[in-house]
Amino acid sequence: MKVLGIETSCDETGIAIYDSNQGLLADALYSQIELHADYGGVVPELASRDHVRRIIPLIQQVMAEAQCRPADINGIAYTSGPGLMGALMVGAAVGRSLAWTWKCPSIGIHHMEGHLLAPMLEDNIPQFPFLALLVSGGHTLLVDVSGIGQYNVIGESLDDAVGEAFDKTAKMLGLGYPGGPVISELAHKGVKDRYKFPRPMVNRPGLDMSFSGLKTFVLNTWADSDKTEQTRADIAYAFQEAVVDTLAIKCKRALKETRHTRLVIAGGVSANQRLRSRLTELANTTSLDVFYPKPQFCTDNGAMIAYAGLQRLAAGEHDGDGFSTIPRWPLGELKVPGK
Ligand code: KG4
Ligand code: ZN
Repeated sequence: MKVLGIETSCDETGIAIYDSNQGLLADALYSQIELHADYGGVVPELASRDHVRRIIPLIQQVMAEAQCRPADINGIAYTSGPGLMGALMVGAAVGRSLAWTWKCPSIGIHHMEGHLLAPMLEDNIPQFPFLALLVSGGHTLLVDVSGIGQYNVIGESLDDAVGEAFDKTAKMLGLGYPGGPVISELAHKGVKDRYKFPRPMVNRPGLDMSFSGLKTFVLNTWADSDKTEQTRADIAYAFQEAVVDTLAIKCKRALKETRHTRLVIAGGVSANQRLRSRLTELANTTSLDVFYPKPQFCTDNGAMIAYAGLQRLAAGEHDGDGFSTIPRWPLGELKVPGK
């Protein structure tokens, strides 16, 4: 079974074809980073308009790369939420219409389910059940995963998502967008222990998190500083350490509570090398296996949507004649495919 995946929930147009026997056949991405760079964040209307421009040429490119004709495609999966309403509408409208024209079923996919299943695109895949740490620009979730569609959210950020905290910190320090890659790059030049930032909510019981206070800490530290390049790097270092440490502490606690021996990290921030090495260290000292996607599948992409779509379409799940987009959509509401 071949599934065309379409991702347009935010500022990346991602298209891919995944085959149930052969795996990923083709994958293409157009990132709008430059379009939004001057604004320091994603401008929703510009994002929707750019998806409109890119989506068809990208689908044509991926179809050609995979040497597929429309008749070879057995289903179409598109991100139906959560995300920016206008951006989601582009992918959903194109996906549903193509499915109608090509006479195949289509399915709307939850963006975070896509991220959660992205490690399944690798050779060494995690078996269920596992604990998932989903860290993106819009979400920070600790999920007890029993199987596909069986997601129990056991911890989340009460305010800013981790990726959002990286982006806002970068903006305050006068760095580019998106903040995650620039902060982590700059942190390499930072001096250890010049600044020590708090680890929010680690002394309180529970698995919820908070990152907005850390952002205020960055703002005040930067405002009171000499504002040199070195100080900027030292703050980036201290910020990253505080975030990574907090996430590691919460993961450790969640693993103890759930007794899972497998940890999946996914979403844009899971591309962060420091986070990966910190959680791998944790795995080396305990009987834990850690799984994460390759960097290109940590951030938004069409492959994860094609993969998630395949699981649901293969179980007989599909859209009716219409489609809907869901800008706010709790992950815990999902059901087992086909149920
Ligand atoms: O998953 P994603 O591409 O989009 C959303 O679903 O939000 O995640 C984007 C987020 C951005 O906030 C970006 O700054 C962050 O992921 N990010 C990183 C890194 N690469 C991307 N954060 C930390 N370190 C990175 N290397
Ligand atoms: Zn995402």
